[in-house]
Amino acid sequence: MTPWSDWERNFETARAALAWQVEMGVDEAICDAPQNRYALPAKPAKPAAALAATAPVVEVTDPVVDARALAAAAQTLSELREVLAAYPHCDLRLGARNLVFCDGQEGARVMIVGEAPGREEDLQGKPFVGEAGQLLDRMFAAIAMGRAHPDPARALYITNILPWRPPQNRDPSADERAMMRPFVLRHIELANPDIVVLMGRISASTLLETSEGITRIRGQWREISGRPALPMLHPAYLLRTPAAKREAWADLLDLQAKLRTLP
Ligand code: URA
Repeated sequence: MTPWSDWERNFETARAALAWQVEMGVDEAICDAPQNRYALPAKPAKPAAALAATAPVVEVTDPVVDARALAAAAQTLSELREVLAAYPHCDLRLGARNLVFCDGQEGARVMIVGEAPGREEDLQGKPFVGEAGQLLDRMFAAIAMGRAHPDPARALYITNILPWRPPQNRDPSADERAMMRPFVLRHIELANPDIVVLMGRISASTLLETSEGITRIRGQWREISGRPALPMLHPAYLLRTPAAKREAWADLLDLQAKLRTLP
């Protein structure tokens, strides 16, 4: 074996030194010549007051506080849609094709609040237009109600907790639900229905602020914004669990009966 030349030895030493730096996390060479930072004179520390004076002013706003203020300022449903479209804190809007605000008739006696748009809803900009939405339409048609019904007593007004589709239809996060809650509560106030249907687990747990499961609380009348609210099983759940349609039917009949008792 021939001994290494000086050049080869220097090359291997330099390569080993470089490998060591990469191992230590060095990822950028800033100066042409190396500096021995241990030999540099220590910089005098800046007094805290001087630091504070030069720091950029970053306004920290709480998404939920902002949502409450913006929602309260909206005086009509179209103003609410506008403030929601301009709301900057929910990143879901960046990945969504459309804001899904509502469908059905303003002035309807029954307002349905679902979970979040899926693929079809995102494409069309309307809530409950996919497979689950078609089942929802059939369910309400069975008690002679529908989103296109011209009579407000038989019409539906429909929205969701989230107006933007979550990626891969994942569950809305706790933060997303908390920041959308003020908008949905204001939506209910402005739409002013006689009854709110909380369609599914996410809707019921967000608006009622409860951790009780939907199969436990479905069919139990609660209150939202001073009006009766009925948690029901989500049609997507009914598609997966057809045996539960019996409970959904009982809840629809209860809803129908409640409408008769209200002025
Ligand atoms: N599921 C919902 O909860 N809402 C929709 O708009 C569609 C499916």
